[in-house]
Amino acid sequence: MTGHETTDVLVVGAGIGGLAAALAAAREGRDVLVATKSTRPEGASSWWAQGGIAVARDDPAQFRRDIVAASDGTAEPDAVETLVDNANEAVSDVLVDTLDVSFDGDADPSDGPGGTPAATGAGLTGDGDGGFDFGREAAHSEDRILHVGAATGKHVHVPFLNHLDDRDRVEIRTDAAALELIRHEGRVHGAVVESDGEREPVYAGATVLATGGIGDLFPRSTNPAGATGDGIAMAALAGADVTDMEYVQYHPTAYAADDDEDGFLVSEAVRGEGAVLRNGDGERFMPGYHEDAELAPRDVVSRAVAAERRATGEVLLDVSPLDFADEFPGLAEKCADRGVDPTDGIPVAPAEHFLCGGVAVDDRGRTSLDGLYAVGECARTGLHGANRLASTSLLEGLVWGLRAGADASRDDGDDVERVAPPELSDRDPALPDDFARQKFRRLRRVMDECVGIERDPAELRRALGVLRRLKGEVDSYVRTRTSRSLYELRNATVTGLLVTRHALANDESIGTHYRLDEGEATDPRPTADD
Ligand code: SIN
Repeated sequence: MTGHETTDVLVVGAGIGGLAAALAAAREGRDVLVATKSTRPEGASSWWAQGGIAVARDDPAQFRRDIVAASDGTAEPDAVETLVDNANEAVSDVLVDTLDVSFDGDADPSDGPGGTPAATGAGLTGDGDGGFDFGREAAHSEDRILHVGAATGKHVHVPFLNHLDDRDRVEIRTDAAALELIRHEGRVHGAVVESDGEREPVYAGATVLATGGIGDLFPRSTNPAGATGDGIAMAALAGADVTDMEYVQYHPTAYAADDDEDGFLVSEAVRGEGAVLRNGDGERFMPGYHEDAELAPRDVVSRAVAAERRATGEVLLDVSPLDFADEFPGLAEKCADRGVDPTDGIPVAPAEHFLCGGVAVDDRGRTSLDGLYAVGECARTGLHGANRLASTSLLEGLVWGLRAGADASRDDGDDVERVAPPELSDRDPALPDDFARQKFRRLRRVMDECVGIERDPAELRRALGVLRRLKGEVDSYVRTRTSRSLYELRNATVTGLLVTRHALANDESIGTHYRLDEGEATDPRPTADD
């Protein structure tokens, strides 16, 4: 290691949660370093979010009830209250007033993104609806989703990055990977960061993990590449509490590509606009599974789609009830790129989408270790319980990011103790990436086969054995020489072990966690008696 660096607040990751934390800390007059291992905005899951951002409209209590109902009653009331009480103010202040995001409005359907003009923003924190074109998604009992066409994520994420780039006190460093937290006597003092081929300790008054999800642990995921659970693994290895890891949400409608890499998310908003699901026999099957049919909670729709694919060979999203190309031009383009004619139906399958659990935090994003915060998907706030309601993830990142950033600003970087950083073995740029690639394939296969949408205890135990062996192999490598991809593999393995252990320890099927041994029929398809 060459030298060291000091900042007031170190943010690891640059999705909406990390950026909101950086903004809040900068507003408090703190120096912030945002270190992201990615080199492009598309490296953050936030960029990819399609649906949008739910807000509280006339009836905040109904928004709260919808979150709790989608979670199968497991969402924590305090977390739900924190989100709903702060949603409109956060969206209005940051997204509308500061970043000038042009959410779709409903005045003149001839111009603006998604065919509608931008709304003004007035109304979110006052009377009226501000002229917004509020969308609808599964398990929402009213239209309350702000969106920019079906590409909301990038229309929020890019201006956010640009805004912070222009602020004096914030540095966004790309291609900068945090490898280990610096910890001393129960307090985190920063992290060892690798950038430009050099590793150095970055000491910080507060460290905010915002590393996103765990999509890279699965062969089919809606996350971008690089979602290897880094923050969760680093926090767990440093001794922080990590909870609810068994609650891995699948999205029911990802394009079912022959090659997993070609898959893409087909937003729930498409079903919100009237698209229906048909099995290989052409039957619309969702009404037989749930009274809300295609707009049932995600875990219900995902398992139904998986069951119908098994039984009838395929599931198609029938978009004939809407003007698909006009309403979802971005998705129509993706279909065209893959040679899919949406008028024949879009082949869909569930894909890993969002981790509801993660590093346990309170209502200000504080973890169980002093000086360490977590926000966004890597954090477990309690908001989602066992299953997340659509279009609450960007919002959760925004609300908790702002709260964590403000709280993290209490500590001055200059007061940080320069404790000895963890000893890392030599960096070896020549270390063959093939090793990590091959092990990643093994990891994904076992997670898919044994820790997927339906879980059998014997298979979970098999996964545990495979992952333990893999961790042993990776650890012995890491002890002698390391590379960035090896750290990612280590993080993915640690995170996979946590998901598997938690899934094994919880024998109650609830929300996204479905245990086949709970005495239920193993085939969830409705029978003639249902
Ligand atoms: C979607 O557009 O279907 C995803 C929205 C979400 O996951 O919240």
